[in-house]
Amino acid sequence: MFGAALLGACGPDSTTDSLTVVATVPTEGSRHAADAPLRVRFDGYLSESMRLGAAASLASAEVGVAISVLYDPVEQGLVIVPARPLRVGLGYTLTVDASVVEGVDERRLDADLIVDFVAGNPTSAGGGPRPVVRFADIEADLRAACGDCHGAPPGAYPPLTAAALVEAPSKRRPGAVLVQPGAPLDSELVRRVLSDYPGTLGAPMPPDAPLDVALQKRLVDWVRDGALP
Ligand code: HEC
Repeated sequence: MFGAALLGACGPDSTTDSLTVVATVPTEGSRHAADAPLRVRFDGYLSESMRLGAAASLASAEVGVAISVLYDPVEQGLVIVPARPLRVGLGYTLTVDASVVEGVDERRLDADLIVDFVAGNPTSAGGGPRPVVRFADIEADLRAACGDCHGAPPGAYPPLTAAALVEAPSKRRPGAVLVQPGAPLDSELVRRVLSDYPGTLGAPMPPDAPLDVALQKRLVDWVRDGALP
């Protein structure tokens, strides 16, 4: 297994040096709800220093559409949110720019990703921004997932309160903080719950099984939204 992997990495048509797209929503040629975000998932985490706003573009008949581009580390992907609902029935082209997108391990895409799709009927849920996540919204779930071990001494550090987490020092990684408001990937708390985040010290949290993906996302959103109590 190990030998085969090594051989593969050295082979002439090896793709191990390239960042790879593993899924897109919508897929090529499909219909996509006019008010729903588009998603592009990669086979690894993305660099935090790339110019997110330039990573993707959206156009219809070569006329650009205003979008915002976000990074979702839990999905290892880009989330592309059109500023306004797309026009139902019209064809669109999503382009992901290979000269901008970069993995946290510095891998690059071999070529631009181009996805053509048609805007379909909006979802009943509607687009709209997601509500701000506060600590109070995730506290119970966090306690259920982590509270067997983390708590006031003799529980493991850190206790699971906003005050104990926000801008508190990491004991494991000197100089790092557990939660840096607005910066999920500068937060040890987030890095430790993402699976295999590069450079992480210590066991993933929780140690026995990966944290529920929905809770991972809400944790990221809480930090991104400013880590409010
Ligand atoms: C089975 C017990 C256990 C569970 C469950 C657990 N942890 Fe931990 N955690 C520990 C121990 C022990 C340490 C200290 C050693 C280390 O850093 O790995 C730790 C360390 C940490 C650290 C590092 C603190 C620092 O100083 O940098 C974070 C952050 C953390 N845990 C978050 C969580 C979160 C979030 C959960 C739930 C999703 C969780 N842990 C679930 C036992 C646990």
